[in-house]
Amino acid sequence: MALWGGRFTQAADQRFKQFNDSLRFDYRLAQQDIIGSIAWSKALVTVNVLTQQEQQTLALALETLLKKVTADPQQILASDAEDIHSWVEQQLIEQVGDLGKKLHTGRSRNDQVATDLKLWCKHQVPVLLHTLNTLRQQLVVTAEKYQDAVMPGYTHLQRAQPVTFAHWCLAYFEMLSRDITRLQDALARLDVSPLGCGALAGTAYPIDREQLADWLGFARATNNSLDTVSDRDHVMELLAAAAIGMNHLSRFAEDLIIFNSGEANFVELSDKVTSGSSLMPQKKNPDALELIRGKTGRVFGALSGAMMTFKSLPLAYNKDMQEDKESLFDALDTWHDCLDMAALVLEGLEINYARCCEAAQQGYANATELADYLVAKGVPFREAHHIVGAAVVGAIAKQRALEALTLTELKVFSPVIEEDVYPILSLESCLAKRNAKGGVAASQVKLAIEDAKKALSTM
Ligand code: ARG
Repeated sequence: MALWGGRFTQAADQRFKQFNDSLRFDYRLAQQDIIGSIAWSKALVTVNVLTQQEQQTLALALETLLKKVTADPQQILASDAEDIHSWVEQQLIEQVGDLGKKLHTGRSRNDQVATDLKLWCKHQVPVLLHTLNTLRQQLVVTAEKYQDAVMPGYTHLQRAQPVTFAHWCLAYFEMLSRDITRLQDALARLDVSPLGCGALAGTAYPIDREQLADWLGFARATNNSLDTVSDRDHVMELLAAAAIGMNHLSRFAEDLIIFNSGEANFVELSDKVTSGSSLMPQKKNPDALELIRGKTGRVFGALSGAMMTFKSLPLAYNKDMQEDKESLFDALDTWHDCLDMAALVLEGLEINYARCCEAAQQGYANATELADYLVAKGVPFREAHHIVGAAVVGAIAKQRALEALTLTELKVFSPVIEEDVYPILSLESCLAKRNAKGGVAASQVKLAIEDAKKALSTM
């Protein structure tokens, strides 16, 4: 029987029941629902609804249930209860009889589900933080290994200036660090207890909600009951954090897919994260990376779905809000799995040094160096830029790199060019000159690795 059967003379249509029930996904809130119920039973003692003795009986039964569901959460799915709240209550009544029916006094499923979901988020966010940090660790390990792996850096997917693979790794370290603080911010904001707000107007029992919040491990209790049962900001914030985090992972994946292409051939992916083609025996496909890239769409979809669901919803609780959970669970699971895969991909990655270096040397990636050289000899930058442009056209016509032109050939473009231009045009010099904070020079990358390690050690 449903929790609310009294007002009804007809049973729900089976098809409606299936449509309406949320147990198949909210069973994941079982632990939180039980923990919330234990705290609520304690609160009911303070307002003389339960005796100490009764509370102890309820708490014992709930703790036993907690152990049971922790061991095997899927067992819940065998029930035809409407949702996790009904399921826990049913189980409790089965265990302790009529006493179990007292627990819902002064409480509503509206403040209950809000509490459960926030508790779940509080449990899940640290799991994600840990996974984000593991990937950060792997990025630092990889950066450390490949400090001397020079490769082309791109803008517009055109070879622009040489960088190192280490510098590339540390770019993603920065993105993940922002993802971490974004999650921490969201966590701090959601750490407020809804319990004791009742259905919408507050509970009619004089419960100390701050104490209740404290028992549940929340920083404090919410301020306004109408807002509390309607608020799903934390769902939207976590989905936004996940969507941005996946956005970063999609760029990571796409970069590596390009680096791994036959055309670039900069990296070799491990057999552990690639698959073959059923038809073409020569192929080794970057599936792990492609799936990371693909799943980004699904996580962003969850965010836009939630934004639409909550848009224009009148206060306070509406059943629309039940739609919050499936997409949140799926998006956070997906983000977690993709972070894990990204770390696995990095772990087995090999760099093709020769090929990376060769590509960095091609494409006139040292053209800026020649311009800077002319500037140092007193040529205004705009003019220098123009001269080098002409030199590049000349070099392309001869199918040679800038540094492969003879001094006489170079002097055609500017008489100020001397023998001392050649060391300037080397890859080593291109890298070493970018020695301001955040630049690609080896000394800066070393500092960045040290800073990154410090950040890792504080997590
Ligand atoms: N399954 C519901 C949800 O996820 C629980 C709250 C039900 N409240 C209600 N008034 N029907 O939102």
